[in-house]
This record gives sequence, C-alpha cells and structure tokens, in this order.
Amino acid sequence: MAQFREITPSELSDNPFTLIGEDWMAVTAAAKGRVNTMTASWGGVGILWGLPVATVYIRPQRYTREFIDQSVSFSLSVFDAAHRATLSYFGSVSGRDADKIKESGLTVAYDGETPYFSEARLVLFCRKLYRQEMKPESFVDTALVRQWYLERDYHIMYVGAVEKILRRE
Ligand SMILES: Cc1cc2nc3c(=O)[nH]c(=O)nc-3n(C[C@H](O)[C@H](O)[C@H](O)COP(=O)(O)O)c2cc1C
Repeated sequence: MAQFREITPSELSDNPFTLIGEDWMAVTAAAKGRVNTMTASWGGVGILWGLPVATVYIRPQRYTREFIDQSVSFSLSVFDAAHRATLSYFGSVSGRDADKIKESGLTVAYDGETPYFSEARLVLFCRKLYRQEMKPESFVDTALVRQWYLERDYHIMYVGAVEKILRRE
C-alpha cells in the first residue's frame, strides 16, 4: 500500500513544465458510479482568484470530458517512469472502448468522492471552479487554429482549485 503524505502547494518542488509536459498526468473523475481516466500533457498550475489552481485542457470528444462535466472534482495523478506504458495506454484508448483501468492493473483509491491512483507518486485533487470552451475568434495567433483544430474540436479549459496534494513518501 502506497504511503502518501499531504503537502502544501508551496512544498511542491517539481518543475511544472517537466511534471505536466514530460511526465504527463492521468486526469481522473467519477460519475454515475463509474470512473474514467485519460492522459494529459497540456495544463498548468498556478494561482488564480487567490487560490492554488490546476488547469487542464480537454477535447470535447474525450470520454473523460463527460466524467469531469458531471462531477464536482477531478484528480491529477503523476507517476514514475515505471508506469509510462500505462500512461501511453490511457492516452491512446478510450474508456468507451475498453475498461482501461482494469486492463492497467492500477488501483483506484478515493479521497472523499474523488478517485485517484494508489500507484501515483503525486496526486493533485481539484475542485472544479471554471469551465470554458475555446473559441476560434479568441486566438491571437490564428496559426494555432490551423495547426491544432482542423476538426474544430476546440479544447475545453477546466480550472480546478487544488484542495489537496498527496506525495508518495
Ligand atoms: C502524452 C499524451 C498527452 C495527451 N494530452 C491530452 C490533453 O492534454 N488533452 C486532451 O484532450 N487529450 C490528450 N491526450 C489524448 C487522450 O489522452 C486520449 O484521447 C484518450 O484516449 C482519451 O481517453 P477517453 O476517451 O477515455 O477520455 C493525450 C494523449 C497522450 C498520449
């Protein structure tokens, strides 16, 4: 059983660019008694509205998007390198087509109502504060629209208040 210690946002020593962009994270949420997860490598952490926040960007077609929309919270689980293949799997197969979590062999734990993974090395628990769909007319650099949104599947931005952080000891 993993031993976690709760830390404050100020105690988080990971480089956020490495943490999100290179280590990736499993975005996990529960709805209607089910749990789904997907890999994300776009996002951020910082301060907004005077609160520590984490932001994720989820395309509308993701099955996980439905879970995040229906829940009050989501978690961001970060793993060590041993779980890289699992994160690739979570990021290439949809929960609509497979029971990804069962296939992965990972263990879902709960903090209150919020699911996360016991095997993670770091977990951020986020209470949803804000949801906004990106709009093409809002892009200042319109090359990004051509580069990333040929299908017009503009990301939805979710800002969550980071209410708890668990770090594996
Ligand atoms: C490394 C990596 C990073 C990804 N980052 C994101 C992301 O930030 N936002 C997103 O919408 N999809 C991202 N994806 C794609 C989803 O993880 C992928 O479509 C997944 O299968 C969705 O699963 P779901 O349908 O069960 O939600 C990423 C995939 C990989 C492999």
